[in-house]
Amino acid sequence: MKNLTLKSEVLVYEDRNELPEEIARLLAKAEEAATRAYAQYSHFQVGAALLLNNGEVVTGSNQENAVYPCGLCAERTAAFSASSLYPEVPFHTLAITAINPVEPLKEPVSPCGSCRQVLYEYEQKFNQPIEVILSGQVGPVYRFRSVADLLPYTFHAGFLP
Ligand code: THU
Repeated sequence: MKNLTLKSEVLVYEDRNELPEEIARLLAKAEEAATRAYAQYSHFQVGAALLLNNGEVVTGSNQENAVYPCGLCAERTAAFSASSLYPEVPFHTLAITAINPVEPLKEPVSPCGSCRQVLYEYEQKFNQPIEVILSGQVGPVYRFRSVADLLPYTFHAGFLP
């Protein structure tokens, strides 16, 4: 096969000690945020920490509801909160992690499709990639350059009239 390239879009840190300081700090904030989840139905606690271009960190955790679809993921809680507090400040990096109370998560938690779509919107709005850091409780940490890398062939505002 000619003229074909296969690109791996993810940087994998097998050893957490090799994480750059700024990323390790953001991940610690996401870990803290996970402990504040309201997850009394799934018992799966997710935490997200968003570093903004102005240096502020805005966190979010999943918020569940007895009417299940009314709940919201940690990532969207953080993104909507950041955009409400600082509507004109781009998102620089997002760290996501989770706590599985039954058995420590060994692989990085992955944001759902709806969260990817929401994050992509802000990437477009600010014309700036959002770095995404994914982590479990143990094991490797993944680092993506942008949300676009996590959501190929995206639906975007350009399709709309
Ligand atoms: N959840 C998140 O908050 N983020 C994810 O990336 C995946 C799932 C939440 C939604 C729900 O409260 C619980 O985890 C189980 O799906």
